[in-house]
Amino acid sequence: MKIFIDSADLAEVKKYLDWGLCDGVTTNPSIFLKAGVRGGVESMQLRAQALSQLIMPLPLSVEVTSDEPHEIIRQARLYASWAPNIAVKVTITDRNGNSLLPVIRQLAAEGIVINVTAMLTFNQAMLAAKALDAGYRSYPQAKKKGYVSIFAGRISEEHGVERASTVIRNMRTWLDDHRIDSAEIIVGSIRSPENVESWSNTGAHILTIPPDILAKLLQSARTKETIKQFLDDAEKSMSALG
Ligand code: E4P
Repeated sequence: MKIFIDSADLAEVKKYLDWGLCDGVTTNPSIFLKAGVRGGVESMQLRAQALSQLIMPLPLSVEVTSDEPHEIIRQARLYASWAPNIAVKVTITDRNGNSLLPVIRQLAAEGIVINVTAMLTFNQAMLAAKALDAGYRSYPQAKKKGYVSIFAGRISEEHGVERASTVIRNMRTWLDDHRIDSAEIIVGSIRSPENVESWSNTGAHILTIPPDILAKLLQSARTKETIKQFLDDAEKSMSALG
């Protein structure tokens, strides 16, 4: 299982790269806003290129800022030209629930790595994987793969953690049963260390984790106590006359 960092903060991403914990980075407009990126597409491009450079050749997901098909296509082509490791995030539908699958299939057919995002059901993820597969199969130049992002935290806020686990598990089983390897499952919207444990064992290819949650994964009061005991005893044993 890979770990992506769900952040646009360069220092945080660098930290977890150094820890050996970063297999990629995901962002979205809310994440850019939180990281202080303001001032239009130029600022977004600057931060996206800095992040993509930092993690090259690992993938960086950057989300389009529109739900209008022509504009999504324009932005996706533009973002993909910023760096070779950029995956373009496109929502599964527009804000009114209208399908964006034709756009997703078309961009995949152009060889652009697409991360289909904001999905809360198995059926959405299954249809997204079908559209990606159809697109990438008509792009013979190179074997490409996209991502299907399941927002497990948002699912569990409404239906509980187990329901989110079932959606992820069913999606992995479906991909394997149908031998579809054009899409990897990203589990997003992780809210706690407990979520990480629950969803690490569901067959997800990737968990994308915000830095504040990642920081908590190392922590255990009993671990600190144990280490202190070892160090105290080491000091006594080193200073005792042998
Ligand atoms: C995933 O790629 C998304 O960026 C993220 O996990 C969304 O989570 P949210 O529910 O915190 O918006």
